[in-house]
Amino acid sequence: MDEKKMIELLNGDIQHEIGAALTYLYQHATAPGLKGQVLRDILAPEIPGELQHAIMLADKVVSLGGKPDLKVPAVKTQETVEDMITYDIELEIEAVKNYTARADQAEELGDLGLKVQLENLAAEESEHRDMLQRLARNIEAL
Ligand SMILES: [Fe+2]
Ligand SMILES: [Fe+2]
Repeated sequence: MDEKKMIELLNGDIQHEIGAALTYLYQHATAPGLKGQVLRDILAPEIPGELQHAIMLADKVVSLGGKPDLKVPAVKTQETVEDMITYDIELEIEAVKNYTARADQAEELGDLGLKVQLENLAAEESEHRDMLQRLARNIEAL
């Protein structure tokens, strides 16, 4: 693991964060019905939340000597609230997996500060995953 490789990996993470923020923005605007209202309430703080993650990662890319990759990824859309939640859970599970791996890689790089930041991201994304999984279990009751 060297700095160049870490820049590349963090740029992938930035893309994932921008994708999540835009997905949640789209779902927040379009989620239908009463179930949709519950999802909207959960997603509202996550739109700026995921962008905040991208801000942190972009700063780190620059401090490692790279350029942040801020192109806009294609956003997948869903029609039903159930499909939206299923997709969001996948996004969060992938984020947890990526940040867990990235924290180990930061340790390999000898960057303890980055390791801790990435562990915090992994913890935040696991909270998102848990929140959405709980909603998925309870949504039928609505
Ligand atoms: Fe995030
Ligand atoms: Fe998240």
